Amino acid sequence: MEHVDLAILGAGAAGLFCAGSALAQGRRVLVLDHAGKPAEKIRISGGGRCNFTNLATEPGRFVSANPRFSASALARFRPAQFVELVDRAGIAWHEKTQGQLFCDGKATQITHMLLRRMEGAELRLNCAVTGVRHGGDRFLVDTATGPVSAACVVVATGGKSIPKMGASGIGYDIARDFDLRCQETLPGLVPMTFAEQDLALCRPLAGVSVEARIRHGGATFKDALLFTHRGLSGPVILQISSFWRPGETLTVDLAPDVDIAGHLKRQRGEAGRIAVATALSRMLPERLAQAIAAELGLASARLADQPNKMLEKLAARINRWQLRPVGTEGYRTAEVTLGGVDTRELDAKTMQVRKVPGLHFIGECVDVTGWLGGYNFQWAWASADAAGRAA
Ligand code: FDA
Repeated sequence: MEHVDLAILGAGAAGLFCAGSALAQGRRVLVLDHAGKPAEKIRISGGGRCNFTNLATEPGRFVSANPRFSASALARFRPAQFVELVDRAGIAWHEKTQGQLFCDGKATQITHMLLRRMEGAELRLNCAVTGVRHGGDRFLVDTATGPVSAACVVVATGGKSIPKMGASGIGYDIARDFDLRCQETLPGLVPMTFAEQDLALCRPLAGVSVEARIRHGGATFKDALLFTHRGLSGPVILQISSFWRPGETLTVDLAPDVDIAGHLKRQRGEAGRIAVATALSRMLPERLAQAIAAELGLASARLADQPNKMLEKLAARINRWQLRPVGTEGYRTAEVTLGGVDTRELDAKTMQVRKVPGLHFIGECVDVTGWLGGYNFQWAWASADAAGRAA
């Protein structure tokens, strides 16, 4: 039987990075993946440009049953350290918004950098892992091509999102086989689906984008909201999807920091002969302004004819739009999986299972999920480095 010091299950962002960190400790490392290519999610990430980190990374940018768990690994492997690797590899990058760093060129440059960093480790593709068990003082990793004996195992098999790209959820099965607790898994950073009455407004507005603010579940996001044929999308919707639970109503502010009622009343005094839609279009994209005026039966109404009550109704519709999503698009399109291996089972410094020395979980399969904006990769690098140094 084949023997290695360290078997890393999954050749995604976390698995490849972990291999590089473990090699530096002089280990014999084998990385296994059932896919034909490594790190397929890096290839498609950030619209093909890979948002590889976020300079504002801190534990508050992650969703977890234990919000402090990520602090240790994040403090010991910071965004600047990853940027240093990117710079050393000669990869050009730029800051988009809010600390988000993207490659200027293709995302696959990051994969190539990670593969070079782990030269000396063996990468075995097209090799499905089916389980992990104890084998005396070692572990036995069951694979489609036979068992592998390993002194240490790092589970880096990701979550359930995008099964078409190789997501299997096997990390959670392995955790359960070792009697570890798992937090319920749910799709995160995912477009939401809407009832017919909301779609009736959204569809004709497909392509319109507006900056919106949504406060929900203790989180507040202000970012672009995009009307689509399927409902609503854009960063602000993806962000809030990680905090929304079925049955909950969202309150959307389509003109954050703008007192719509105050503006309309002032304009009514100054230029009351204009149409309501024209007045609204000074604060909103024109098509959205027209649609909202029409929805309230004011398609060709004059501002001067509207009583305060109607202006306040319009303002509420814009500043406090109540929306009840019916669901999400699910794992098929979710960027991440919320929940996963319960952090109470893991040592925060090494990502090692407290009651199973030598077994580690890293990356997306752990109950630490970043906001949109490069945080999930930073968690992959940081948790991988913590385990790679220790395993
Ligand atoms: P990841 O999913 O990357 O890797 C898991 C690996 O395990 C895969 O290679 C899989 O094939 C393998 N595997 C699964 N089951 C197996 C089995 N049974 N046997 C063997 N191998 C198995 N984040 C970010 O920070 N910035 C961004 O720009 C983006 N953009 C983005 C776009 C899209 C479309 C998606 C879907 C996701 C993102 N993300 C992102 C999220 C990011 O991709 C994600 O958080 C990381 O890839 C997680 O890294 P992991 O290594 O944990 O899992």
